Amino acid sequence: MPKVIYIDVDGERHETEVSNGSSVMEGAIANGVEGILAICGGSCACSTCHGYIDDAWIDRVGPPNEIEESTLELALDRRTGSRLTCQIPMRDELDGLVVHVADNDG
Ligand code: FES
Repeated sequence: MPKVIYIDVDGERHETEVSNGSSVMEGAIANGVEGILAICGGSCACSTCHGYIDDAWIDRVGPPNEIEESTLELALDRRTGSRLTCQIPMRDELDGLVVHVADNDG
């Protein structure tokens, strides 16, 4: 199972395993990573699963599609690497992915 390393807003590192096909958001919820709220349940409507893909991974993860892009406009403190984690399905090529959790509580 591929690994995801979440860095929460307090800088705490959570090294987890997330099964292929599950989203990066689902992995955070299943592993009790704080800060990923996912209020809409993964339907790309709320932006409370916002995270920053670590610089080293941005190219491999790829850019948001048009629908995600419009929901990302709702996100607080958008930066380079901003993605909605519910829109990133895990796959073997993302093994070791590092995601910094955004301050979704505002
Ligand atoms: S969980 Fe709502 S946009 Fe990702």
